[in-house]
Amino acid sequence: MKIAVPVERYPQEGRVAATPETVKKYKAMGFDVVVEKNAGLASRFIDDEYVAAGATLAPDMASTFADADVVLMVRRPLAEERSLMKKGATVITMADPHAHKDDIKAMAEAGLTTFTMEFMPRITRAQVMDVLSSQANLAGYQAVVEATYAYHRAFPMMMTAAGTVPAARVFVMGAGVAGLQAIATARRLGAVVTATDVRPAAKEQVASLGAKFIAVEDDEFKAAETAAGYAKPMSAEYQAKQAKLVAEHIKKQDVVITTALIPGRQAPRLVTAEMVASMKPGSVLVDLAVEHGGNVEGSVPGEVVDTANGVAIVGYVNLAAKIPASASALYSKNLLAFFETLVDKETKTFAPKWDDDIVKATLITRDGAIVHPALLS
Ligand code: NAI
Repeated sequence: MKIAVPVERYPQEGRVAATPETVKKYKAMGFDVVVEKNAGLASRFIDDEYVAAGATLAPDMASTFADADVVLMVRRPLAEERSLMKKGATVITMADPHAHKDDIKAMAEAGLTTFTMEFMPRITRAQVMDVLSSQANLAGYQAVVEATYAYHRAFPMMMTAAGTVPAARVFVMGAGVAGLQAIATARRLGAVVTATDVRPAAKEQVASLGAKFIAVEDDEFKAAETAAGYAKPMSAEYQAKQAKLVAEHIKKQDVVITTALIPGRQAPRLVTAEMVASMKPGSVLVDLAVEHGGNVEGSVPGEVVDTANGVAIVGYVNLAAKIPASASALYSKNLLAFFETLVDKETKTFAPKWDDDIVKATLITRDGAIVHPALLS
C-alpha cells in the first residue's frame, strides 16, 4: 500500500503533512511512502532526510499521486491535484469544508474518500489528533511575534541610564488555545497582559498565566459555554455592555491580539473602527480571526493596514504556516496518530472502522458522495 506526501501548492503554505520522523513510523507499520521532491523544504526538512527515513522520492506531482492509496496533505487538494489521484484513494487533510463545499463535492465526485482533521472530536482519546489545538497554539505564539515586529518598541520594561522603556500593555481577546498561548508568550516577553473571553472557564486559565481578566460577568456570561467547551453567540445586550468595557480598556493598550471564534459562524466583531481610532499612534492590532470575517473592523486578510491615526492592523492569514517547521512537526504527528487508528494491526492493512466515533466525525466524502451530516444541509 502506498502513502503519498505531496508538495503543498497553496499560496504561502510552508507546511508538509509528514516529516522524516513520521515517515519512519509509516514504514515501520509496513507501508510504502512516496514523498514529492522538495515537499519538506519550506519546513526545513530536506529530501535526503526523507530518503534516510525510508521514503521514495517522486520527481513531480503526477508520479507522487500515481497509485497512491492514501494521500496525506495539509490543505484540501486543488483541482489539478484531484485529477491526478486515483478513484477510491483516501485523502487525509484539513479540508476547511464549511467554507469550501464545492471543492468537497468535487472530491466526492472524483471518488475520493476524505477525512478532515478539523472535525476531530475533542475527546480524550483524540487529543493527540487535535490539529485545531496544535496549530492554534503556534498561531497564538506567532501572533505575538508579529506584534513585536509591528510595534517597533521593546515589550519588557527596561530601566537604563538613558531612560526607561515602559513595558508594553497587551490585551488578548479570546482566551482559547491561541489566546492562552498569546498570553503566555507576551508574558514571557515581559508585557503587562490582560485578556477577555465570553467563556467563564477562561477566567481561571487567564489568571493562572499571570494575566488580568476583563469581562462583564453577568448571568449570561456564566452560561456562555457549550458542552463541547466552545463559546456560544452572545446577545446584542451582552455585546453592547462588553463593548463599552472593552472600549475604555483598549484606549490604554499598546497591542491588541484578537482570536475570538464561534465554530461554523462568522467571527464576532469585537473592535470597532472607533475603538481603533481611540488607540495611541504606534499601537498594533493582530486579528487572528481575519479569515473568518475578522474581530477587528478594517482588518484585511494577508495585509498590514496602517490607519490614519498611526495604528497598524496586522491581518496575516494562516499564522501557523509562518512557523512551518514546528507546525509541520506537530501536524504530522496528529496525522500519524489518526492514521494508526485506521490500520488493522493484525493484517497491517489500511482498514478504517466505519462505525468508530473518530472515523464518523471526520469522514466527509465516501463512495462518490458527501457523507457528513454537517455538510448535507
Ligand atoms: P475557538 O478557536 O473556537 O475560539 C477562540 C476563543 O474565542 C474561545 O476561547 C472563545 O470562547 C472565544 N470567544 C468567542 N466569542 C467571543 C467573544 N464575543 N468575546 C471574547 N471571546 C470570544 O476556541 P478554541 O481555542 O478551539 O477552544 C475552545 C475550548 O475548547 C477551550 O475551552 C479549550 O480549552 C477547549 N479545548 C478542549 C480540548 C479537549 O481535547 N478537550 C482541546 C483543545 C481545546
